[in-house]
Amino acid sequence: MSTTATGRRPLVLANWKANGDHNSNQTLIEALCQGWKGLNKAEMVICPPHCYLGQVSDALAHANIEVGAQDISRFERGAYTGDVTAFMLAEFGCRYVIVGHSERREYFSETDAQVIEKFQRAQEQGLTPILCVGESLQERDAGKALEKIGAQIKAVLDSCGRNCFVNALIAYEPIWAVGTGRIATPEQVEEVHQYIREIFGELGDKIRILYGGSVKADNAAETFALDDVDGALVGGASLKAEDFLTICRAANN
Ligand code: PGA
Repeated sequence: MSTTATGRRPLVLANWKANGDHNSNQTLIEALCQGWKGLNKAEMVICPPHCYLGQVSDALAHANIEVGAQDISRFERGAYTGDVTAFMLAEFGCRYVIVGHSERREYFSETDAQVIEKFQRAQEQGLTPILCVGESLQERDAGKALEKIGAQIKAVLDSCGRNCFVNALIAYEPIWAVGTGRIATPEQVEEVHQYIREIFGELGDKIRILYGGSVKADNAAETFALDDVDGALVGGASLKAEDFLTICRAANN
């Protein structure tokens, strides 16, 4: 990751998943605001559960930290019980939204077709989607990792067009590395990130591609040193202020 050479600003995103409560959120946010004062080479983004978006947005109103959402409705509005629309997320100050996280695809049976709709709803409201892609361990062992990732990206590309990716990010998250403590090797990460850039041709060098999957305070710097890594999507380690700040500072170097 070398911003000056690539023009791609590093971004580190905290994916809190279904964790936190009002009090612990407040403590965490205050520590992050304090520790991130004056740092702005990298972008820090916090994605709390939807019900805490108001709290986090308010707490970050004067901080150099952005707010994002973990998921989004594929519908514009209407009788869709339980859904939170792009318009609502925008009203709560979200700039980013994760779409197609492997946990959504796996536990909520989200399909590529639904991911496409979510990607589109986000962009219609000026939100920047972060499209998650990644292979299972079986797919990797069968030598089909790139094929799987290529298909996930091409599904969105074919429906939305290349230009949509001017305002989108991609997160490569091998499913076997998410929440397991087993991070992908530098070679594996570089191979996939380069492959993703190739899919986009000329635009490829402009797209920010994050890595996600067991990024921790003690392995972030090594991951960020890779040329084609523009930051990280962080789950578990984003729940501890000092760990997350260490990761963000590594991206800011
Ligand atoms: P992890 O989660 O950092 O806990 O592996 C990453 C993610 O889900 O994006």
